[in-house]
Parts: sequence; C-alpha cells; structure tokens
Amino acid sequence: MPLRSHDWFLRDGQAGFKSRSRMKNQGTPQQMFDGRPVIGICNTWSELTPCNANLRILCEHVKRGVLEAGGFPLEFPVMSLGEPLMRPTTMLYRNLVSMDVEESIRANPLDGVVLLVGCDKTTPAAIMGACSVDLPTIVVTSGPMLNGKFQGRDIGAGTDKWRFTDDWRTGKMTTADYIESETCMSRSDGHCMTMGTASSMACVVEALGLMLPGGAAIPAPDARRRRLCHFSGNRIVEMAKEELRPSKILTRDAFENAIKINAAIGGSTNVILHLLAIAGRIGVDLRLDDFDALGSQVPLLVNLKPAGDFLMEEFYYAGGLPVVMQNAASLLDMDAITVTGESHARNTAGAVCFDERVISGLDAPFQREAGIAVLHGNLCPDGAVIKPSAATPELMRHRGRAVVFKSLDDFHARIDDPDLDVDEDCVLVMQNVGPKGFPGMPEVGNMSLPRKLLDKGVSDMLRISDGRMSGTAYGTVVLHVAPESAVGGALALVRDGDMIELDVSRRRLRLDISADELEYRRAQWQPSATPSPRGYTRLFTDHVQQADLGVDFDILKGGSGHEVIHNAEAQAEGKVGAT
Ligand code: FES
Repeated sequence: MPLRSHDWFLRDGQAGFKSRSRMKNQGTPQQMFDGRPVIGICNTWSELTPCNANLRILCEHVKRGVLEAGGFPLEFPVMSLGEPLMRPTTMLYRNLVSMDVEESIRANPLDGVVLLVGCDKTTPAAIMGACSVDLPTIVVTSGPMLNGKFQGRDIGAGTDKWRFTDDWRTGKMTTADYIESETCMSRSDGHCMTMGTASSMACVVEALGLMLPGGAAIPAPDARRRRLCHFSGNRIVEMAKEELRPSKILTRDAFENAIKINAAIGGSTNVILHLLAIAGRIGVDLRLDDFDALGSQVPLLVNLKPAGDFLMEEFYYAGGLPVVMQNAASLLDMDAITVTGESHARNTAGAVCFDERVISGLDAPFQREAGIAVLHGNLCPDGAVIKPSAATPELMRHRGRAVVFKSLDDFHARIDDPDLDVDEDCVLVMQNVGPKGFPGMPEVGNMSLPRKLLDKGVSDMLRISDGRMSGTAYGTVVLHVAPESAVGGALALVRDGDMIELDVSRRRLRLDISADELEYRRAQWQPSATPSPRGYTRLFTDHVQQADLGVDFDILKGGSGHEVIHNAEAQAEGKVGAT
C-alpha cells in the first residue's frame, strides 16, 4: 500500500537522494527507507514545562514500540506550554502550538503521529493541530505525579496550594511550612495529580478514543506508563497501515462520550474550551449548550480533588477510566471506535473496580448531578459556565451587590484594602480577563477573597468573570462570560452597587438593571484595551473567537488535510527545497 512518506523516501533522482542522504547522517541505515511507515513523535518536552520533563524518556519507549512493529520513528520538537512559568498565560499560546504541530506534521514525510503531551494546554494544542492534518494519531500523556505528601497527609497539586495560600495569608500557616509544602507537593515526574485540567484532558482524550485504554491515569513514574508508550508505538504503526485517522474516531458520538465522562470525573471547566476547539478542527458540530444538555445530569462517579478526597494515584489503583466508562456505560455510546480499532465496549470489558471509595457506580454516586451548567441571561447572552460540583450549594441561588474590578491589576491593588466596601453577600466581578481583553483568558476567575472576609471565616463568595479557572480550583465561580467585556459584552457595563442574580437551577445569570439603562451604558462604553501593535499577540487578538466558540482562531477552524501545497513542476526538477 502506498504511504505518504513514499513520496519523499522512495523517489528516484535528486529528490529521493536529498531526503535519504541527509537522514543518513544520523546513522540511519538504507533499510529504513524500504517503504515502512514513518512515525512522527511530536514531543512537547521542555525543561520549562516540568510537567512534561519525563517525555524524553517516554519517547524512547515509543520509539522501541515503533521499531518493534516495523516502523521508522522520528521524534520532533514543538513549542511547549508550561503552566507554572509562562506569562501572561499559556492559553495565549495554545493556538500557536496547534499551528506549530499542524505545519510540522504536514510538511514532513510522516504516515502517523504520536503526540507526547501532558501539561494543561499541550494536550489540546497538539490534538487541534493533528486534527487539522488528519493523519493517524495516538496520544500519550506524561502521566500524573505521585501523591503529594506533607506532614503526614496527602496533598494535591493546585487544590491544596489555594488552601495553603489562604492559610498563609491569614497567618494560620508559617512561611517555613508554606515553603516546605512546595517541595512535598511536587515530588516526582508528571503533571498535576488532582483532577485538574491535565488529568481531565487525559481522561477526556481516553474517552474520545485517541489513547490506549487505561492510559490516562497511570502515574508518571510507574513502569506501566513506559509499557503504555511501547504499546502506543506498536499500535501507531498498524494505524498508519489501516489509515485509522482522527476523523474516523472523533465523531459526534465520541464528543458526547467525552462531555459525559468529563462530568462523571468532576473534570475541569477548561475542557469545554478545548473540546469546542478540537470539534471545530475535525468538523463536528458541537455547541456550548451541549455541555449542559448532555453533561449536567451526569452523576459524579469519581471521588477526586478538587471535588472530592483522593488523587490520581488512587484513581489508577482503583481501576482508572475503564472502570468509570463501564460504570457509566448506559449513558455512553460504547460502540464508538477508538485507536485500538475496537470499541470502548471491547476495550473496557473486564474492567474491575478495586476501591469503591474512589470510583462509584451509577446507583451510589458521590454527587447526583456533576456536569457543567451553562448559564444565559442579559449578563451573558452567549453563555457562561459554572461547575456545581466545585461550588457552595447555598450560593447556587444568590442575589448580591456587585463589587467591580476593571482588570486583574485593579483586583490585586484593591482586594485586600481594609476600606473596600464588600461583605460576604457581595458578588465579585472582574472585567477584561477574556480572550481579547487580557489577552489570552488567564486562570484568574477564582479570585481570592478579601483578606478581611477570610479573617471572619468566609470561605466562598459568588465570583463572575470572562476569564478561566484552574481545573484544580474550587468555589462558586462563574466563568467564560461571553461576549467578554473587552468587546463590549454586558460584563463591561456592570458598575459597583448593581444587583446581580444567579439561579443555577434555572440556568440564569442576570444583571438587575432595566433594558434602557443597559442600552444607555452600552452607548457610553469605550474599549479600554489597546490592541497589540505586532507579532503573535496581534494575530491572536485579530482572530481569536469568544469562549463559546472555544477561543480558537477563526482562520484555523477546520483542516487542510495532509497534502503538501507546492509547485509540483519545480519539486520534480529538484528546485524546491534544495540547499
Ligand atoms: Fe502542568 Fe498542572 S501545572 S499540569
């Protein structure tokens, strides 16, 4: 069967000579150019992305698997996105990495791709790019870190950081203990081991069918993750021969499964943005309201932080995602095809739950309705989201006075001001942290509470913004308000003292002012953000879409396939690409 790579390596004359010869400077023997599948290993390894630092080692195991199965593995780097270090926010660069991945795959002689990813944005970015090329693709993540261990108890990345920070700010925790907890929280390779965005995305990718079964939860240092890499290397060679492309796996049913699984695991709100963007690339009609219609009634089957008690290590030992899929089978399309070439039903047959404290059945869930609620109303005509499983039940219906911050800087400058006119019934509103406004839509929606209220013992308040929230965070937090304030959305028109009403059961978020007053304010509104003059940030602000469309660029929707657009005549004469 002719493969795409044959057009490079099996050609006669100068074109074939050029392709083969320079590859031989790495010691590649001639027999590797016998027409075998060429497998690209797209590696987001970087020392600046510590969550992905083990991907260099894991890559070697993927290569072994590819070679064993008769393929020719070629690793290539792409830009990486490390949550802990990158500023102003990794979300600004997700689409850039997707472009890097897309063009790197298309431009090279590849027949299939293994995506090595892990930290939050690396996973969706790579998948978005790969979908726009649509060559056979399999995903391997770096895996969750081992449980944090601090002063005799387990601690979770992110989730316990928020708690410790509040304790430290209010003097309940010493600075020495606070610093010590940093070391104890991150004690192995891997990504956040709470059910934050990285773990949620890993589970969702497994539910989409793009990962070998059981792969999401294996701890990063566990040898079984290396075996997963080996088997993924084996499998991608077969997928290349079978032409099992993402477009055959990522059907509407696959996305519906992913939405329901994200609810069942108490997954991150960031998954909404990433699934919408991936669906846009592969050509599946997925809407923000689908997350509510399909997922909001799904019960919580996993007892993991931030919504529960345990961490990914226990989740894996309890059986991992195959058990969740089996337990939720009646809600899912278990006939959906996966990278194995088999259905979820076949892949997960025989999955056994080893710890019902960690994974429950549908008959005894940890929470009855766990999925994302999508809100509408005059404050968010194109939608906003809230994660009920992370919120305070008493605040799910709430009316309060708005305390407005014009920006993140304004928030930091005033939140701990003893004279700030705020009480626990108020609604904290942050403007200008949306896709265009920041730009990049940072994870600042879970605003820390005013110190004077923390001192009183207040632990949650209703908070509203056009930004995002870390998947490891919690609280009664309305996010992704669309349209955002920077483009004149109603959030920009909220003023101190306005009354805001939230009613999650009716999916309503309302600014309690008259329509005339709202229109008057809209007419007065002036954009405050100065457009970036140049470079990638200019590209971003010119083309980024709102949260309800996944924050992808309008020009990146869909795909361009794997054909290389070039001047065929010049290529045949060896004039293109000659050095
Ligand atoms: Fe990288 Fe959480 S910071 S996964």
